[in-house]
Amino acid sequence: MIKWNPDNWRNFPALQQPQYQNHQTLSNVETQLALLPPLVFAGEARALKHQLAEVTMGNAFLLQGGDCAESFAEFSAVNIRDTFKVLLQMAVVLTFAGSCPVVKVARMAGQFAKPRSSDTEIQGNLELPSYRGDIINAIEFTHTARTPDPARLIQAYNQAAATLNLLRAFAQGGFADLHKVHQWNQDFVKQSPLRERYEHLAHQIDQSLGFMEACGLDSAQVPQLRETSLYTSHEALLLNYEQALTRQDSLTGEWYDCSAHMLWIGDRTRQVDGAHVEFLRGVNNPVGIKVGPTISNDELVRLIQIINPANEPGRINIIARMGANQVEKRLPILVRTIQTEGLQVLWSCDPMHGNTIKTYTGYKTRKFSAILQEMKSFFNVHAAEGSYAGGVHFEMTGQDVTECMGGAHKITAEKLADRYHTFCDPRLNADQALELAFLIADILKQSRIKR
Ligand code: PEP
Ligand code: CO
Repeated sequence: MIKWNPDNWRNFPALQQPQYQNHQTLSNVETQLALLPPLVFAGEARALKHQLAEVTMGNAFLLQGGDCAESFAEFSAVNIRDTFKVLLQMAVVLTFAGSCPVVKVARMAGQFAKPRSSDTEIQGNLELPSYRGDIINAIEFTHTARTPDPARLIQAYNQAAATLNLLRAFAQGGFADLHKVHQWNQDFVKQSPLRERYEHLAHQIDQSLGFMEACGLDSAQVPQLRETSLYTSHEALLLNYEQALTRQDSLTGEWYDCSAHMLWIGDRTRQVDGAHVEFLRGVNNPVGIKVGPTISNDELVRLIQIINPANEPGRINIIARMGANQVEKRLPILVRTIQTEGLQVLWSCDPMHGNTIKTYTGYKTRKFSAILQEMKSFFNVHAAEGSYAGGVHFEMTGQDVTECMGGAHKITAEKLADRYHTFCDPRLNADQALELAFLIADILKQSRIKR
């Protein structure tokens, strides 16, 4: 295999890339970005890799979630805080009710670029480039808005930096203190059928903290009680951005993509001879691979061998997104192949992307029941194959949106219009996300009892 360089990907076919018109402006932006500080430090990416290795070995669970697409318009402290809150709530449910340490990875601070099923969109007589995420173009259906603008890479970087800054402050500045578990509950969850279950759990946590304090163990001795670690991740789709933020670690000499702790390759850009695989094989971050129903055993094995030739645990996270009615057909053989080949991978389940449908009213949505069905099947398949189902990957928000159907509030197709705000795919609202966390915690608890 040829020696790796951060710009080698340019010699390989890259799918899902925007057609920039002004190459000089793009190149100036790349130079500017390359001089800006990295967003994460290589040591943090290594710390995450160690934690994901623990997950791979069955000693912890991965919770990954956040927006389908972050946007410039919805960028606010309140939105960041509320998504962080839901992640904390879900993590506490999984840790406490599922008796399992949880590694938290947000789809935030860089989740801007989107793969699209078509390069163009037609409305009436007008055909324009598709919206590819705020780092590339704008969502309005005009020629100017849809023209890819390199300046957006800088705006995305600045927004990612500010988001990460606030997330770090929340994680370590007292907001994530376990004594505040009641305060994380959002007003609209308080009005939901889940309220009692969450409050009961929060009460149990209070009691446990009281007991620990009586034994002389408080947050002064156990900092994990007052702070947490939250890592960031996004799809490494726009390779110009990823390359510009790729730096050589001064401690080890290794390359890291310092735009996020973890990067993943999308289901549409995972070609073994493509630019995205070429780029990600050379950076030392943990790497996710989205795997849909069209992947073959050979392709999966090849991908893993290329990206993780040393078979290092914690390096690869396979994110299966088969769809509720495909998972039992497609997943077992893949799991078996990984076992036969002796490959170290963390398996997680994205029950969102294989279950997107359109309602008769024209809304892109997902049924809570299908999401739950895929989750359950994922756990069942792993249990049957003697493999560890290590994590989940969700699209969710802390806002009270109506984008996915069903859940405790029984959102119907007619209600989707009430608060449908997503820039791309339909997300779980906080209530639906928390409901899923309780259901997963039950499954985890059962499987831990059996082990
Ligand atoms: C996504 O995670 O937003 C996405 C586009 O997923 P996939 O590549 O699995 O379709
Ligand atoms: Co999505």
